[in-house]
Amino acid sequence: MDALTQYLDQHRERFVDDLKAALRIPSVSTQPEHRDDVRRCAEHIAGHAKSLGMTRVEVVPTDGHPLVYAEWMGATGKPTVLLYGHYDVQPAEPLELWATPPFEPTLRDGKLYARGACDDKGQVYMHLKAIEAHMKVNGRLPVNLKAVIEGEEEVGSEHLESFLRARRAELRADVIVVSDTTMPGPDQPALCYGLRGILYTQIEVTGPAHDLHSGEFGGAVMNPANALCGIVAALKDSDGRITVPGFYDRVREISPEERERFRTTPFDEVDFIRGTGAAVAWGERGYTTLERISARPTLDVNGMWSGYTGPGSKTVLPSFAAAKVSMRLVPDQDPADLFPRFEAYVKRLAPPGVSMVVRDLHGAVPYLTEPDHPMMQAARRALARAWTKPPALIREGGSIPVMATFKETLDLPCILMGFGLHDDQVHGPNEKFSLSSFHGGTRSVAYLYEELARSG
Ligand code: BES
Ligand code: ZN
Repeated sequence: MDALTQYLDQHRERFVDDLKAALRIPSVSTQPEHRDDVRRCAEHIAGHAKSLGMTRVEVVPTDGHPLVYAEWMGATGKPTVLLYGHYDVQPAEPLELWATPPFEPTLRDGKLYARGACDDKGQVYMHLKAIEAHMKVNGRLPVNLKAVIEGEEEVGSEHLESFLRARRAELRADVIVVSDTTMPGPDQPALCYGLRGILYTQIEVTGPAHDLHSGEFGGAVMNPANALCGIVAALKDSDGRITVPGFYDRVREISPEERERFRTTPFDEVDFIRGTGAAVAWGERGYTTLERISARPTLDVNGMWSGYTGPGSKTVLPSFAAAKVSMRLVPDQDPADLFPRFEAYVKRLAPPGVSMVVRDLHGAVPYLTEPDHPMMQAARRALARAWTKPPALIREGGSIPVMATFKETLDLPCILMGFGLHDDQVHGPNEKFSLSSFHGGTRSVAYLYEELARSG
């Protein structure tokens, strides 16, 4: 066994401890009460990067949450990697559904449970630990590295773009590397070549000026909760097709070659659906589950509220109802083009007697790259060294908003090499990261840097 691999194996336990320290910081980017925690997490990551020997380590303020920049440029003549990841996390609520508290990382059965364990602190720490191993064993990295670890990915990366544009020249690199995606199974690594975009909206419906007795007034005025349900119900037909006019205009159909690729992708549909706890698969007619979750657009209610939701009953006709509705988008859909269509359609669906506000909360453009790009070869070699099976090539349904911006501002090849599993419950209660993913991922990253040096 080479010295690098030996180092990685010998320090596994402490690597987990280092990750745990980051997981204890509740860096929830969407909740204003966690503002200071988000900053503290940035400082923690910056401090850690510095301790590994990274240089020019900065906590860069933005108009939102800060980002961490760090680099190591000592590999003259070798390629430069731009590493991207995020240290912010989604809210942990509902807290009562967690077996152990979300910000007290806990090991059970070879899995580390905490909010952010997989998405994305665990995957950021794979890179930090791979960097540590190279530094400790060789006193250097095989490649030059520029790392951007941001604090707003989970809220749409709104302020990252201006940083990327302002520092465009300084961020010059040969390849972008991101670990924030999944793999089909615990021993099946993957390289991801496509992500969906998103349009995230909020629909607000107001009826009467205040809540009313539902006996005294029920039947006399339009109930905004009923109105909202009618609108939401009309957004999709019985085939699971979205009814917003023009919604599919720019959707790229799945090519026969890609359908064939999907057919041979290692993906256990039965296991995937079983893991959700839902009784059966359901989705757009004419497409497989794998196609539905990666290459087809969707529309889903993410949250809804109105009226009385406490215990027992209260006979009340609410004055207000709201829903958070998001759409996952595929090439060549564009959230900026779709929002006005969505807004106009929703307003048209509104019955008389209510007033409507439709808000555009955030959007991201879909991402798709050439699966056979030469830079992918280095990643394939690294994964083949670290795992027993060669990597699968996959398209995924989640979004990483900055990917499209990277393409636009830097136009570099991207390696999306992630190690999450479908049962990691990212964004849900009891999020976890399997230690097999963490350690296998760290090894893969350490090898990736070597392989990229070779390919340069
Ligand atoms: N890691 C995810 C993206 C992801 C999830 C990729 C599953 C592949 C499979 C990322 O951190 C994420 O959750 N992004 C948000 C972005 C959104 C808030 C703009 C998402 O997809 O919901
Ligand atoms: Zn996420």
